[in-house]
Amino acid sequence: MKGRQFSDQVVEWFDRHGRKDLPWQRNSTPYRVWVSEIMLQQTQVATVIPYFERFMTRFPDLGALAAAPPDDVLHHWSGLGYYARARNLHRAAVEVAARYGGQFPLEFEAVRSLPGVGRSTAGAILSLAAGQRHAILDGNVKRVLARCFGIEGWPGRAAVERSLWTQAERLTPHRRVDAYNQAMMDLGAGVCTRNKPRCATCPLDAQCVALAQGRISDLPAPRPRRVLPVKSVKMLMILSPENELLLEKRPPAGIWGGLWSLPECHEESALGEWPQVHLGQTGRVVRRWPVRRHTFSHFHLDIEPVVIALNNCATCVLEGERRVWYNTANPDGRGLAAPVARLIDELRNHIEGEEQ
Ligand code: ADE
Repeated sequence: MKGRQFSDQVVEWFDRHGRKDLPWQRNSTPYRVWVSEIMLQQTQVATVIPYFERFMTRFPDLGALAAAPPDDVLHHWSGLGYYARARNLHRAAVEVAARYGGQFPLEFEAVRSLPGVGRSTAGAILSLAAGQRHAILDGNVKRVLARCFGIEGWPGRAAVERSLWTQAERLTPHRRVDAYNQAMMDLGAGVCTRNKPRCATCPLDAQCVALAQGRISDLPAPRPRRVLPVKSVKMLMILSPENELLLEKRPPAGIWGGLWSLPECHEESALGEWPQVHLGQTGRVVRRWPVRRHTFSHFHLDIEPVVIALNNCATCVLEGERRVWYNTANPDGRGLAAPVARLIDELRNHIEGEEQ
């Protein structure tokens, strides 16, 4: 579709529905718009508003910000998160004070090279505060364009990002670029949301490729899953003659920190000796269950459950805080690692089946 037609529809939507009374839209100096854009980089408008107001009261202009101690700036950022933004904001203010005599630069490359300002943020600042024609492409706008034009692939990939920028540049109008850019951000944040977008209220619905093809939930494509390494472990289900199960408490740090889990064994050759070595008891492997996979964010864990029955348990009383005999028929609500809870359920069903 023609860029002109696209931007006309977006601007018309802005005139009817766009936000026009946000604090940084009143008296929208480059300084105020810059601060707001940095705050809005990872944070929603409603959260930013009170922070912005307090920030402007304390640092009303670039000189005040440049002259402030960094800790004072961080203090006014406290609660917004991503504190590198605040440190960069302060560094940039010091740089502008030194290099440009305290006047916020209005030249694209000068703005873009400030700490914390990338291509999209520089475009937003100069279009919103100075009416210059620059495209923007933040995460929300990427979603709008990927859906509208059916752009495949994860937007974090350089080739995909390039084609999104090409569209963004092509569509950016020469007139009313401030209204257009603000509208694209508002559309992305409030209409073309990742989940449950409000397509019925979208000015671009008639031409949206994703909507026409029923692919709204597929676009933009998510970050590809990394291939995770696989680790293997045998989890020992050690049963006393009374069918109580030995549980061990995990160390506080690491996976399942502080939760109750099963003893683990990595060596096949160490299995038979395990009860003798660790409990001073004799026992035998009575069953091996099929391997099941548990996936963490950074690896797969292939768990092979091995059922070991102790021959007798004259000294099965355990010392210490880190081991218990657990009555599977009478769970006591202690914190269990998730796959261990599932194994215990299976074991209980198994034992009940045998008892019938
Ligand atoms: N996100 C980033 N910049 C924004 C702006 N100016 N308005 C709304 N959301 C934004």
